[in-house]
Amino acid sequence: TEVNRIRNFCIIAHIDHGKSTLADRLLEITHTLDRTQMASAQVLDDMDLERERGITIKSHAIQMKYKAQDGIEYTLNLIDTPGHVDFSYEVSRSLAACEGALLVVDATQGVEAQTIANLYLAIDAGLDIIPVINKIDLPSSDVEGVARQVIDLIGVNREDIIPVSAKAGIGVDVLIEAIVKRVPAPADNNHLPLRALIFDSVFDAYRGAVIYLRIVEGSLRKGDRVKFFANDKLFLADEIGTMSMKRQPKNILESGDVGYLICSIKDVKDAKVGDTVTLADNPAKERLAGYKDVKPMVFSGLYPINSNEFEDLRESLEKLALNDASLVYTPETSVALGFGFRCGFLGLLHMEIIQERLEREYGVNIITTVPNVEYRVMLTNSEMVIVDNPSKMPEPGRISLVEEPYVSMQIITLADYIGNIMKLGMERRGEYKNTDYLDTLRVIMHFEFPLAEIVFDFHDRLKSISKGYASMDYEYIGYRESELVKLDVLLNGDTVDALSIVVHRSKAYDWGKKLCIKLKAIIPKQMYEVAIQAAIGSKVISRETISAMRKNVLAKCYGGDISRKRKLLEKQKEGKKRMKQVGRVEVPQEAFLALLNID
Ligand code: GTP
Repeated sequence: TEVNRIRNFCIIAHIDHGKSTLADRLLEITHTLDRTQMASAQVLDDMDLERERGITIKSHAIQMKYKAQDGIEYTLNLIDTPGHVDFSYEVSRSLAACEGALLVVDATQGVEAQTIANLYLAIDAGLDIIPVINKIDLPSSDVEGVARQVIDLIGVNREDIIPVSAKAGIGVDVLIEAIVKRVPAPADNNHLPLRALIFDSVFDAYRGAVIYLRIVEGSLRKGDRVKFFANDKLFLADEIGTMSMKRQPKNILESGDVGYLICSIKDVKDAKVGDTVTLADNPAKERLAGYKDVKPMVFSGLYPINSNEFEDLRESLEKLALNDASLVYTPETSVALGFGFRCGFLGLLHMEIIQERLEREYGVNIITTVPNVEYRVMLTNSEMVIVDNPSKMPEPGRISLVEEPYVSMQIITLADYIGNIMKLGMERRGEYKNTDYLDTLRVIMHFEFPLAEIVFDFHDRLKSISKGYASMDYEYIGYRESELVKLDVLLNGDTVDALSIVVHRSKAYDWGKKLCIKLKAIIPKQMYEVAIQAAIGSKVISRETISAMRKNVLAKCYGGDISRKRKLLEKQKEGKKRMKQVGRVEVPQEAFLALLNID
């Protein structure tokens, strides 16, 4: 039957180990696209930002036709997976749409944290794994050493591991035959009512949501009325088809197929990744397993620098959210920053991407507050409140306990750096679990951390204390009680709500002090003295003073030439633009992020 000729697979790898390059070679060897089209480098990543960051953010699917040595033409569906921990739920759904995975390991780097994290996801999804060692063309490659690591990791035989050079195209012919032989064909469930797994969706300005799905059971015809489990809404399947370089409309998609569905969905939130599509007239009883409503993990306030850009910011966020079901935002007001939005993100990378796109694509200048996690607060009246904005933390007297999100983390490094990493772990309130040796030099360390302690600069610190020889990956494990307090900053006696943070009690004094010193360095002198205070509740724990300004900026140019004077004035004006008037004090934008570069 047809279904025996289908192979659905994905490529999993640590970042930079060559996933995109290998995907390109597969597209090339199957003539899905030719060399001239390849010139625009990596074809599967189609967002500029992705290319710049070298990270595959959104998963897509592409269909290839390949005539194998057995003379049969196979349909290969390559499902691309995002490579970052922020998007691990999307990764898990993409994997769930496949029967097999290529596990790519760089021959010069060996197994890394994401290799293992992704491998576990693939094993959980029950996939057959084809280990691939890439970059064998490099003189520094250690194919046999890395093969031993892979054998230890998944217990395969050496001859099952395929060495390739994605860049030079070596071994790709062997690999594609292995895909045909070793990835199982999908089960033939055509007789059952339709159940299709949504593993991605993108927004098309003209057509609405384009949903990528895997038909797990049953079949879907053009014109069918479809139903989504997550919201029980009905839509008409206007167009269905498969993806090669372009959308290829079809009349039917059957069990085992991977393709797309367009059904006039105007809001991507109606097409949730992980949801199940069925037929309105012959619905399946249950949705497919594994659906999760993804929740934002990291929050930040986004404010326009010029308050008259508030509407622009709102419109830009609306447009971004059209394409990104995981971006959430609600309007909020800050005494210090005026009208803005509290935005929730899947993680730090997701946050940075959104901020960058707002500024770059939509041209809105924004001030962002320090990112924070979401706290669960039990009040003394036994009510529970969820706090996603530190300034909204209830007064200490009303709180009976506070819980914060925790993650379990794995760090892969050389044994030489165990000491440094233990120290960093302690600084960040980590709970050390254990260390296993991967081989004689490399270890995998397990920790549990409060998410708040790793959301910013943890990865950079890890890289710097290990001279780059450490990689990390983490997953959310739940909420735990912590001794947390709200630390406020006061300028001339007024609390600046946008500067409030929630910290562990043991760190509050130290942070309060450092924050005051840092703000003193950032806030320019004003016409009058400015007192900077850090306080917990009504108790001031630290204070710095900025003395009043003596001369104005032009006095310096006394007798100087006019152009220099103009330059200075312009500079001052420019500086002003990025200032926020907070009470009587002018505060530069960077002050709101001062916390990020305090050690
Ligand atoms: P992300 O998309 O960032 O996760 O990375 P990736 O895993 O897709 O890696 P990518 O294909 O972008 O490759 C990373 C770098 O390794 C690029 O500079 C590639 O040119 C290079 N590279 C990939 N495969 C090979 C190879 O076989 N040999 C050599 N020498 N370089 C390779």
